[in-house]
Amino acid sequence: MSIIKTHHVTLRGGVEGCEIILRPLTDADLPDLYRWNADPEVLYWAEGEDIEEYSPEDVEGIYGWISQENLCFAIKVNGEKVGECWLQKMNLPHVKAMYADGLDVRRIDAMIGEKAFWGKGIGTHFVGMLIKYAFECERVDVLHCLCEDYNSRSCRVLEKNGFTLVLAEKFTKPHKGQFQYHWRLTKDEYNARLK
Ligand SMILES: CC(C)(COP(=O)(O)OP(=O)(O)OC[C@H]1O[C@@H](n2cnc3c(N)ncnc32)[C@H](O)[C@@H]1OP(=O)(O)O)[C@@H](O)C(=O)NCCC(=O)NCCS
Repeated sequence: MSIIKTHHVTLRGGVEGCEIILRPLTDADLPDLYRWNADPEVLYWAEGEDIEEYSPEDVEGIYGWISQENLCFAIKVNGEKVGECWLQKMNLPHVKAMYADGLDVRRIDAMIGEKAFWGKGIGTHFVGMLIKYAFECERVDVLHCLCEDYNSRSCRVLEKNGFTLVLAEKFTKPHKGQFQYHWRLTKDEYNARLK
């Protein structure tokens, strides 16, 4: 039995000279997931809490669990695998409580594990692809994403894709950041940007 539950959604995008494909994550991606999740520099940005390294068992637990009910993708740029991203049902009770019952609220989480690909516009692009898919194909009502205040790249990617900062939540336990930033993009806001 496979660890990562896969799916059949592939998203294609990019600009001339830079083809971006989001394809289903599978167990064949585990060696890269182990490597990216054992890189302290990647985890510095990906995790607010101080985690230097995840073990292979941790990685299997994380991706095995999350993929059961959510879409996990490998990010490919011009044929090269550079990271992973998820379109996930909102799992945090205090965030769910911010929205009316019955609304489809999701979050996007992402990690470019190949550090040479940071800061080249790829995150902005693939998050845009996930947003389009979420609102136009999955009929999601709200995207609500989280990142810590120290992760300027991540904040900027959300901002550039039309998200609004709706809450800055002060951490009560030690974190790298001082605040958890909450970013929101509603279906109506997305549609208004298309006009
Ligand atoms: C976060 C992540 C997905 C962003 O993707 P990316 O391809 O690196 O980002 P982009 O190049 O599309 O955009 C980055 C933006 O941040 C800006 N930026 C880059 N480095 C910055 C820095 N140190 N401080 C402030 N802004 C910065 C860039 O200028 C760019 O904005 P601009 O287009 O207005 O100039 C990617 O960097 C990543 O996976 N990092 C490691 C893991 C991580 O942080 N995951 C997210 C956890 S919430």
